[in-house]
Amino acid sequence: MAADQETFAAVDAFVEATLAPDDEALRGALAAAAAAGLPPIQVSPPQGRLLQMLVRLVGARTVLEFGTLGGYSTILLARALADGGRLISLEADAGYAEVARASIERAGLGAAVEIRVGPALDALPRLDEEGAGPFDLVFIDADKVNTPRYFAWALDHARPGALIVADNVVRDGSLGDGASDDPATVAQRQLHETLAAEPRVTATTIQTVGSKGYDGFTIALVDDDRPGI
Ligand code: SAH
Ligand code: DHB
Ligand code: MG
Repeated sequence: MAADQETFAAVDAFVEATLAPDDEALRGALAAAAAAGLPPIQVSPPQGRLLQMLVRLVGARTVLEFGTLGGYSTILLARALADGGRLISLEADAGYAEVARASIERAGLGAAVEIRVGPALDALPRLDEEGAGPFDLVFIDADKVNTPRYFAWALDHARPGALIVADNVVRDGSLGDGASDDPATVAQRQLHETLAAEPRVTATTIQTVGSKGYDGFTIALVDDDRPGI
């Protein structure tokens, strides 16, 4: 049987219903985003659960997110923080950020989360000035052409043992196409070349299918002084 998009979506729905159920705050965040006309491109519930498990596995107290949208992934990440943990999320669109702030407030996470509005590349020098970080986990999910730049900054501001996760790197399989001239694809391939030459990380990329189609994510473990596994 050749699986198709309908099958991928049905499996995601089953996994959500069994292992990654929603709740009032998550439903509220998605409803507010839809009502405000935001695109429905948040992580799927199973992907969100994985992000939460990664936050817990590293015992993260400091998380940085690139790309807030309506705050769905932000809420999931923030809920998984260790006690007293903080999350900074960077969002270019002021209207999206307003929607997200309200949903995060309703989720009871207003004190743990700070959203900064503006292009993420502009926010990074200020974070530097403030001495932000080191971060325990970074989730890169904003404009895909800049993923390599966000990754480079994250690596310089991550503690040993930290995780850096980049969403949407496989892009319908175009990651494997060296002839692609799509700028987002070229950027993901460049990210991989950088990772290959970077002694400070161990990384891999996992292809996914699901309610959002065929894509995948890269996970990089920042050198914890046990390189060369
Ligand atoms: N992480 C969210 C989805 C993010 S979608 C979730 O899973 O719930 C990508 C987001 O990146 C969009 O909200 C978009 O406005 C934002 N974005 C695009 N370009 C950006 C930039 N240069 N800096 C910061 N955010 C950007
Ligand atoms: C898009 C962005 C995402 O982060 C995603 O997971 C899927 C799609 C987009 O910009 O289309
Ligand atoms: Mg994404």
